[in-house]
Amino acid sequence: MSLLSRHSLLLVIADEPAASETVAIARLLAAAGARVGLLEAPGAARWFGPAAMEQLLGEGLSMERASETWPAHAMVVLGGREAREAWQSHRSDLPLVQPPEPNNVPATRWLLSAVLRTLSGRPWQSRRLLVTAGPTVEHFDAVRFLSNPSSGKMGYAVAEAAWIAGAEVTLVSGPTALEAPWGVRRVDVTSAAEMREAVLAERHDVVFMAAAVSDYRPVERRVGKVKKGLGTWTLEMERTPDILAELSASVLRPELLIGFAAETHDIERYAREKLRAKSLDGIVANDVGAGGAFGSDSNCVQCYDGAGGAVSFGPAAKQEIAAAIVAWADGCLARKQ
Ligand code: C5P
Repeated sequence: MSLLSRHSLLLVIADEPAASETVAIARLLAAAGARVGLLEAPGAARWFGPAAMEQLLGEGLSMERASETWPAHAMVVLGGREAREAWQSHRSDLPLVQPPEPNNVPATRWLLSAVLRTLSGRPWQSRRLLVTAGPTVEHFDAVRFLSNPSSGKMGYAVAEAAWIAGAEVTLVSGPTALEAPWGVRRVDVTSAAEMREAVLAERHDVVFMAAAVSDYRPVERRVGKVKKGLGTWTLEMERTPDILAELSASVLRPELLIGFAAETHDIERYAREKLRAKSLDGIVANDVGAGGAFGSDSNCVQCYDGAGGAVSFGPAAKQEIAAAIVAWADGCLARKQ
């Protein structure tokens, strides 16, 4: 399913500074499945004109010439503040998608997230949310470490889905190859100890702990790179702090605390045990056995809540699963209030 299918968006072609950007945005919206109504504001003809309009309409995407009363779910207006205000006063019935300030950010970075956030109605507006994601890395000398193959994709997708739902989101991330979702504040960490510090720095309303935290770390970190020898090398390991359990028992405990569980077998039993042992409000379990979820773009999860309820989502793209997880968490929150 395309992200914006079933949505109609009125794109106002306003003033000159936004010329090439407006064309790019029309294409991006239509390529994401939206029905795009193109409306030329007076003055736009100076740079846009009938030829440019005909070219866009002829591209085979779902675009059409729109009138001022064209029925839409939201309106996108680029250009300066004056242009935005002028068009908002014409169509105050429509929510407005704002380009970010400063507006030299490429539309490919912000547009789809911003449109989805506007269309969502922002049910989590004013909620402060924290998500942990990715692996942790535990060094035993300057260049060697213990870690796991978590890609961070699931946690990043949850952070993005929560931002789209209107929340203010902090993403505490172990090392990953991913770019932070638009609008989300990322705090980079390496080890479990650093992740713990970042998580316990402030109170949040909702916390999702999707990181694959190393359970053990080397007792000792040697200085520099250890030279290889002929014999064996035994590493002594110790437990890392259980960040989730500690947060749950602390004064910083969020109103809603959701854990994740990666299991290879007896998924439900282990997930429910964790839910109880760490006093969580919910847990999202996924099967990482047999080619499982690590690094994959799609996933299949079971969500268990504190009241004994269970629901499963997928198989589907991690973005879709993340949106379903956020909606499920919203239900858990509503039942607590
Ligand atoms: O007990 P287990 O490690 O399987 O629990 C998984 C959950 O606990 C995940 O939400 C994970 O992010 C969190 N966790 C943690 N600190 C650890 C280990 C796991 O926060 N040291």
